[in-house]
Amino acid sequence: MDGDLLLPALEQLGVTGIPTGWGAELGPPEFDGAVIRTASDYIDDPAGFRAWCVRTASRMPLANPADIVTWNSDKRYLRDLEGAGVATVPTLWVEPGESLGAVPWGRFVVKPAVSAGARSSASYSGSPLTRAREHVAAITAPGGVAMVQPHLPAIDLEGEVGVYVIGGEVSHAIRKAGVLRPGAPPTSDLSLGHRQRVVPDLVGEEHARFARAVLDRVPGGADRLLYARVDVARGERGELLLLELECIEPRLFLEHAPARAGAVAAAFAGWLARAAGGVGHNGCR
Ligand SMILES: Nc1ncnc2c1ncn2[C@@H]1O[C@H](COP(=O)(O)OP(=O)(O)O)[C@@H](O)[C@H]1O
Ligand SMILES: [Mg+2]
Repeated sequence: MDGDLLLPALEQLGVTGIPTGWGAELGPPEFDGAVIRTASDYIDDPAGFRAWCVRTASRMPLANPADIVTWNSDKRYLRDLEGAGVATVPTLWVEPGESLGAVPWGRFVVKPAVSAGARSSASYSGSPLTRAREHVAAITAPGGVAMVQPHLPAIDLEGEVGVYVIGGEVSHAIRKAGVLRPGAPPTSDLSLGHRQRVVPDLVGEEHARFARAVLDRVPGGADRLLYARVDVARGERGELLLLELECIEPRLFLEHAPARAGAVAAAFAGWLARAAGGVGHNGCR
């Protein structure tokens, strides 16, 4: 896991990282700053998580900033990025009170706007749309927003590429295999995501440029982000499309890029020194 490499690398820079669950009341003098790490269970209580971020940020520096976490916790942020000129996966949005009408794609995916680990996500082919409509209704009935997208064949053929940008630098990349099989029902947990095959990838110039362009369009600008992962898939014409921007809790997969641990730790330590005024030596995740 990330901590196995990250915590010793931080220690070498004089920063003690203390893994802590979110929800705890954290602040000085024990902690000088907090870096959110693996917190995907926030999707069970997004409002509680957002409130905790705001509370924590009122006591000490938090990365990423609480308003970015709030914005990024609901995939409707993709609409903002698309409006700002980012090429995103085409999406029909179904809000609470609406139902799924016609779908313009033969194979398509239904997933919730608040999700992680491919939870409550499934792929469908053609009509009848009965099961897809039931799936959409299961997302919207309790107040959620459903997303309907073409099932991108490239995701099954070559996977999606996750490009990590840390401390303003493109750091490393991973490639994740597709997980949605037509006919498989949506899962109620994060097991699909946990079983997803992940391999290291080289960061090509095309992907690096795309990732930087996405981050430039984040509210307030890329400089506000300590870390982010930009998930990119190819569309039908081979063009790069944004599938997801993860500014909350991207697992870093440093085990696939161990040589990057020192640079990532240096970015974290540099952020802490700047944000906490140069006196801090404790962090948490
Ligand atoms: N439009 C799509 N076409 C094909 N596969 C998809 C599509 N959208 C999502 N998937 C698959 O489902 C997984 C989870 O979807 P994603 O949008 O990344 O949400 P999250 O990771 O937040 O659950 C992806 O990693 C991918 O394997
Ligand atoms: Mg994803």
